[in-house]
Amino acid sequence: MVKLKYDFDEVIERKNTNSEKWDGVSHLFQKPDLLPLWVADMDFRSPQPIIDAIIQRAEHGIYGYSLTPPEYYEATISWYKRRHGWTLDKQWFFYTPGVIPAINFTLQAFSEPRDKIILQNPAYPPFFFAVKNNVRRKLLNPLILNNGRYTMDFDDLEKRVKDPLVKILILCNPHNPSGRVWTKEELTHVGEICLENNILVLADEIHCDLIYPDHKHMPFASISDEFAQNSITCTSISKTFNLPGLKLSNIFVPNPKLRVKFNNLIQGTGVKEPNCFASSALIAAYNECEDWLDELMIYMKDNLEFLKTFMKENLPKVKITEPEGTYLVWLDFRELIPDSKELTRILFDVAKVALFEGFLFGKGGKGFERLNLACPRSILEEALNKIANAVKTEL
Ligand SMILES: Cc1ncc(COP(=O)(O)O)c(C=O)c1O
Repeated sequence: MVKLKYDFDEVIERKNTNSEKWDGVSHLFQKPDLLPLWVADMDFRSPQPIIDAIIQRAEHGIYGYSLTPPEYYEATISWYKRRHGWTLDKQWFFYTPGVIPAINFTLQAFSEPRDKIILQNPAYPPFFFAVKNNVRRKLLNPLILNNGRYTMDFDDLEKRVKDPLVKILILCNPHNPSGRVWTKEELTHVGEICLENNILVLADEIHCDLIYPDHKHMPFASISDEFAQNSITCTSISKTFNLPGLKLSNIFVPNPKLRVKFNNLIQGTGVKEPNCFASSALIAAYNECEDWLDELMIYMKDNLEFLKTFMKENLPKVKITEPEGTYLVWLDFRELIPDSKELTRILFDVAKVALFEGFLFGKGGKGFERLNLACPRSILEEALNKIANAVKTEL
């Protein structure tokens, strides 16, 4: 095992910090003492340069309306060039207080009530809420599961896009919950279908930096200028450096006509500049924390291997959808516990472990659970032991 410079094994108390994951869990699920491996944030401290940048900004003591300095753009542009081979233009940038707000804004700007939005299920639950809350209609293009690996169903997509009410496809790349890092071929195929049928691609690339060895994230818009002109890409420092509480996302809109429309919509919402702490954090993150991220992914890979070995030895009937990116693992419990209510009972009431329940990801999710690997190995081991013991006593 490689010796790491950063200590991801350190267990840091997160209770009583207003943490949604740790303090919100019992309230949300109405059950006490749950060990939380559900929502997608990490139990690791963010890298020190980010903490220092926030403290330095905080010490000034005046938190007025803030500008985005040139370093904000330079740091982001350089990151995307270095890490993903994508050349961004400063004019493309919008900031929103999260990717989900940006998805809602995109639906509002580029579709009308009752229009249809394509989702590739199982899909991240807030995509469904965004469609419903904006009085749009979802059109499912289910992913195909074959031997523990999901692929896109292009034949089905070809049929769906013929509906003239379809306006937007939400592309999740890397995909939550399956962990697929879509290949250039897959993205090209989906991009061409959307182009031919005049459907905007809303690329949620929030997990783009969390990629395992042997896989490469391909930003959808970087594939061709035509794709760039027909897409909106949502990104963030939040998953990469564990900063979702800072509420900052960068949204890239290369097409000038789409930019005008998006800008008009955003102006109307009052969302303007990023909060002052988040922009200081972004500059430190993209300029100084690359080595931390590289080590994080080594630790994640080791956690994944630990999980695989544990499952093989203790719960061989649980099938693992091996992630190519993200720190999330999509586990198929259907063979072990076919009744999904019984699955919930065993996990939440007996094991007292909170995972993200598969049925919330729409059709095809029932009987699955999403587990968050981004915790010290001792917590992962504790959770897995609790699950294995509960299965032993209950089945
Ligand atoms: C695919 C995906 N999009 C968006 C989000 C949430 O984005 P934000 O917190 O920036 O609104 C998540 C969080 O888990 C996610 O997995």
